[in-house]
Amino acid sequence: MLILLILSISSAEGQGGGGGVIDVVAKFGAKADEKTDLSKPLLDAWKEACASTSPAKSVIPKGIYFLSTATLDGPCKAPIELQVQGTLKAPADPGAFKEPKWIAFNRIENFKLSGGGVFDGQGTVAYKREDCEKHDYCDSLPINLRFDFLTNAMIQGITTKDSKQFHVNVLGCKNITFEHFIISAPGDSPNIDGIHSGRSDGVNVLNTEIKTGDDCVSIGDGSKNLVINGVTCGPGHELVDGVTVKNCTLTNTSNGVRIKSWPGAELGTCSNIHFEDITMTNVSSPIIIDQKYCPWNKCKINKESKVKLSNISFKNIHGTSALPEAVKIICSAILPCENVELADIEITLSGTNGPTVSQCSNVKPKVSGKQNPVACSAPIAAKPTPVA
Ligand SMILES: *[C@@H]1O[C@H](CO)[C@@H](O)[C@H](O)[C@H]1NC(C)=O
Ligand SMILES: *[C@@H]1O[C@H](CO)[C@@H](O)[C@H](O)[C@H]1NC(C)=O
Ligand SMILES: *[C@@H]1O[C@H](CO)[C@@H](O)[C@H](O)[C@H]1NC(C)=O
Ligand SMILES: *[C@@H]1O[C@H](CO)[C@@H](O)[C@H](O)[C@H]1NC(C)=O
Ligand SMILES: *[C@@H]1O[C@H](CO)[C@@H](O)[C@H](O)[C@H]1NC(C)=O
Repeated sequence: MLILLILSISSAEGQGGGGGVIDVVAKFGAKADEKTDLSKPLLDAWKEACASTSPAKSVIPKGIYFLSTATLDGPCKAPIELQVQGTLKAPADPGAFKEPKWIAFNRIENFKLSGGGVFDGQGTVAYKREDCEKHDYCDSLPINLRFDFLTNAMIQGITTKDSKQFHVNVLGCKNITFEHFIISAPGDSPNIDGIHSGRSDGVNVLNTEIKTGDDCVSIGDGSKNLVINGVTCGPGHELVDGVTVKNCTLTNTSNGVRIKSWPGAELGTCSNIHFEDITMTNVSSPIIIDQKYCPWNKCKINKESKVKLSNISFKNIHGTSALPEAVKIICSAILPCENVELADIEITLSGTNGPTVSQCSNVKPKVSGKQNPVACSAPIAAKPTPVA
């Protein structure tokens, strides 16, 4: 039973109008039968909502839909919302995609994605197909959700599961918030980041649960003001790659808080990165700065990183480590890390409560409060650090 609700919201211009609620099933004949492509009804509903001069909402009601692919473009004339109550399923065959995206939102201002629905990328097939370490094909697999050039966007109460590649890619956005967002994928899926953000200012990831096979949140170049609060991450690789992280929990991840740059990386800086109030449970490398990061051993390991790391703090980090190396701060020999702070660190070995170690290279951290393991007390291996 569908109820079509028409809200009357007066538009500032007093004409044009439209607005209200646009139901893809009732108005555009979408079918929740898992096989009829939702693409056209969704685009038609979006077009109508986008043209409205008063705030408008497109609704995908409960049910399971098949969606081949869709790019929802702005700019729109007024604030716009897409409410997804149902489950959207992507084609299982990775070969069905011409571009590395499944659903994209592009150049929209005052956008909201809500509804409690699920975006199911059906990626399980893709992970089993090949091994990303030996092939480059992973780069062309579709990302579940792309948010490109959005301003003032809210993504709330949505689940993305089983993406074939990154779950979410944020590019060129200003003020975008993910809240009560759920990301889920098998822990052993390769190269599946949770949220990757690049060239954006003001990305907030709040009260979000990320279960993925790689970085929970990763940051590309040109990102400012990323706030991560109340995020649970794991199993997977790590929480974040360069940022401000507070009040988070990691369980069974291979890295806790990691800043990485690889040998021979381009000149750059990475500063003002703070980790605070983090709980780790059975994390393989809880605290790691690694400027000798070398994914799949493909880089020239005798080159030093040219990325300058400075103003980095780790405060009140506690819990357990799956491996003895709980703290590892390996900086570049040509550009040593500056102004690194370790305060109140308490990490014991998982299961045994045994000792953990702390290793440092090309860094003299400022130390305060409790330090278990004792900061920089262990020798480091001569070999480049292994990859995650
Ligand atoms: C950021 O976007 C939200 C909507 O998601 C809006 O409520 C808020 O006012 C925006 N903040 C700024 C500073 O524009
Ligand atoms: C810390 O994170 C939890 C969710 O894990 C959230 O409920 C709580 O509000 C956060 N605390 C603060 C001070 O932000
Ligand atoms: C962590 O991994 C262990 C062993 O695989 C498992 O027993 C435990 O339930 C996991 N914890 C979480 C929170 O996933
Ligand atoms: C900790 O994680 C390792 C894998 O990283 C797993 O083998 C082990 O069972 C986990 N232990 C606990 C207590 O969860
Ligand atoms: C590092 O922090 C200090 C103050 O704590 C500040 O003066 C300096 O500009 C910061 N450096 C960078 C590169 O942001």
